[in-house]
Amino acid sequence: MTVPAQSARPLRVIQVGAGGMGRAWLRTIVASPDVELVGVVDLDMDVARTALAETGAGPAQVGASLTELAAATSADAVVNVTVPAAHSPVNLEALALGLPVLCEKPMAESVAQCLPMIAAAERAGQLLMISQSRRYYSQLASLREVLGGLGPVEVARCDFARAPHFGGFREQMAEPLIVDMAIHQFDLARDLMGADPVSVYCESSNPSWSWYAGNAVATAVFTFAGGSRFAYTGTWCGPYPETSWNGTWQLGASGGGVRWDGDHLPTAYAPDGAPLAVHERKVPEEIAGSLAEFVACLRDGTEPATAGWRNVISVAMVEAAVRSSAEARVVTIAEVMDGARETAFAT
Ligand SMILES: NC(=O)c1ccc[n+]([C@@H]2O[C@H](COP(=O)([O-])OP(=O)(O)OC[C@H]3O[C@@H](n4cnc5c(N)ncnc54)[C@H](O)[C@@H]3O)[C@@H](O)[C@H]2O)c1
Repeated sequence: MTVPAQSARPLRVIQVGAGGMGRAWLRTIVASPDVELVGVVDLDMDVARTALAETGAGPAQVGASLTELAAATSADAVVNVTVPAAHSPVNLEALALGLPVLCEKPMAESVAQCLPMIAAAERAGQLLMISQSRRYYSQLASLREVLGGLGPVEVARCDFARAPHFGGFREQMAEPLIVDMAIHQFDLARDLMGADPVSVYCESSNPSWSWYAGNAVATAVFTFAGGSRFAYTGTWCGPYPETSWNGTWQLGASGGGVRWDGDHLPTAYAPDGAPLAVHERKVPEEIAGSLAEFVACLRDGTEPATAGWRNVISVAMVEAAVRSSAEARVVTIAEVMDGARETAFAT
């Protein structure tokens, strides 16, 4: 991996995409001493200007072309906060310019679309990191610490219930819950279970009261290497009382179990039910956490757990779950990866 900024000076970043999440990123970039915002690219330059003005993130140049703005600003890196369908073209453009990229999840809508980006990062010798912001919480740092002493996780469960009215691209997607949201929990399951997924059986549906065009409800059971299981149940249109945005987690190992409601310090128990101590930890959270890790990796040349070639397994979990639901059968991660390789080579 080429490291663009060995010096201590802030990394000069261009943000592409200044919509809803783009505004949160602008605020985060401006608040970080590690980076300096030098440009904002959006298909709609008025959206970019308004976002800059409303977030107080200026001054920065605004443009519709990443290539032109990168040349004009001598940027070091790109933060990609466009809609999922635009992740691939923007990442490929940035990597072709020799710039490392921190890209919002999901890397792409299919594994086949991810593979050329992974190859482009390899070719450019640059980091393509996916921002899986729900890996970065102080409470999760506490959870990982206590879980680490309990032995390998053999059973895990996540229940997710929210009912947001977003409008926009999510309400038109075929599988909005699995593709746009559940990827967070699928990805976190990989992290917490410390193993790779092998197969999934999933059913998704769209209740009569849903305001989404596609399936807003899903239940999936993943088998992980070694035989451990991860059970996910999610709804993006209620009607249950809402969980946190992280969902409610239960993780079981031979040394005990951990429960996390996604909003408070986890609780942990020994097999006999005796409470285990959980210590408070403090780490940069959410997108500030992924931005900090991106900069640290560029500076010291390490690779994050969500580098594109690693994160593609989380995308494969999503694709396998969608296929399982469509075809009403168990789908393996291996068949998704093999099929994607064939598609990517053919195209
Ligand atoms: N980590 C999280 O918790 C979280 C939360 C919300 C959204 N997201 C992710 O953030 C991304 C953006 O979501 P959003 O809600 O901000 O979407 P949005 O539709 O509000 O904004 C996307 C912006 O990207 C611009 N854009 C689209 N294609 C472009 C292109 N080719 N070049 C330049 N600009 C382009 C659009 O004009 C728009 O301004 C998505 O990948 C989404 O999944 C993550």
